[in-house]
Amino acid sequence: VPGQLKSAVVGATGYAGFELARLLLRHPRLAPPLFFSRDTAERDTDLGKVFPHLSGNASHKLLPLSPEELERHQLDLLFFATPHELSREWIPKAVARGVRVVDLSGAWRLKEAAHRKIYGFDESDGCAAKLAEAAVYGLPELHRDRVHDAQLVANPGCYATSVILALAPLVRAGLVASDSGIVCDCKSGVSGAGKQPTPRTHFVEVAENLSVYSAFGHRHTGEILEQVGLDENQLTFTPHLLPIARGILSTIYLRLNKPVEPGEIEQCLRDSYSGCAWVRVFPPPQLPQIQYCARTNFCDLGFNLSPAGTRLVLVSCLDNLMKGAAGQAVQNMNVMYGWGEQEGLN
Ligand SMILES: NC(=O)c1ccc[n+]([C@@H]2O[C@H](COP(=O)([O-])OP(=O)(O)OC[C@H]3O[C@@H](n4cnc5c(N)ncnc54)[C@H](OP(=O)(O)O)[C@@H]3O)[C@@H](O)[C@H]2O)c1
Repeated sequence: VPGQLKSAVVGATGYAGFELARLLLRHPRLAPPLFFSRDTAERDTDLGKVFPHLSGNASHKLLPLSPEELERHQLDLLFFATPHELSREWIPKAVARGVRVVDLSGAWRLKEAAHRKIYGFDESDGCAAKLAEAAVYGLPELHRDRVHDAQLVANPGCYATSVILALAPLVRAGLVASDSGIVCDCKSGVSGAGKQPTPRTHFVEVAENLSVYSAFGHRHTGEILEQVGLDENQLTFTPHLLPIARGILSTIYLRLNKPVEPGEIEQCLRDSYSGCAWVRVFPPPQLPQIQYCARTNFCDLGFNLSPAGTRLVLVSCLDNLMKGAAGQAVQNMNVMYGWGEQEGLN
């Protein structure tokens, strides 16, 4: 149909890619999206075979990922739901051809070389460095105008989205005593680790269990520090693995610069997200839970204040595959093309 956007997903056979495929297939503004896959056993089959949830009367053939094939389809927009190594390799080529890109990986999110170290990128690659600088951090609630104009949108990390949306308004309003230390105690369902099972994510290790991983060493720490405007001594982020398939709950502990009333915190959050369809602020004492936002694109925020009004427990919940990945990617696409931010997401 003339006027409809031509889009494609690279990595559609993964968890985030599947969620993206599901959303794009029913998005009203898009021509039927295409799906690319590396040269694996799954290629040349139908995405409906990999994910029977997508079975139906239409076929969704997996196309070989090659420069010629990408060129041949004259795409407007490419989504990468792939490991960051593949995104680093392929996205510069797509961008050079003038294609707009939303990357779900961590390949282009970080502006500071010190934070990028954890990914082990080749920092001598000038082309990649330029692209990393030009990439826009795709959190529409914070960077809507820049996302609109971006050629490359770096979709944020799932944990990072939950923490940044909760913390940024309060830190920017000068309410947080950052030097007293902010603790982000975050818990995620296992789909956050992707489709390939590992000894750590194997059912037997996860079921009926709760465990900490990557304390002081998780890749999302840099994003959180950069976006909220903190240094590493001010924030401790500890991820946990929950025995559920999807969903994140972040509990954030912090001290305030002066005693405040609950209304002040609530107003700060509400003012920051007025007009933002995908952030919901709960009135205290009500707090978000994973079940309220699972399978939706909402990030839910709530808080409880200590009786003296000086200590705050902030709670942020989202679905890691939706607002933490594919839903946010579709929201970014909507912003990039000037469409309603809720289109294709309800
Ligand atoms: N899962 C989440 O909650 C979540 C949230 C936010 C961001 N992300 C990010 O989104 C990206 C995709 O995550 P995911 O959880 O969907 O991962 P996944 O389930 O492991 O899927 C990744 C897909 O990428 C493709 N791929 C290309 N090169 C690969 C390689 N060397 N090894 C493995 N797969 C490769 C594969 O598709 P083909 O074989 O068809 O090519 C695979 O199905 C990652 O960068 C991740 O960090 C994930």
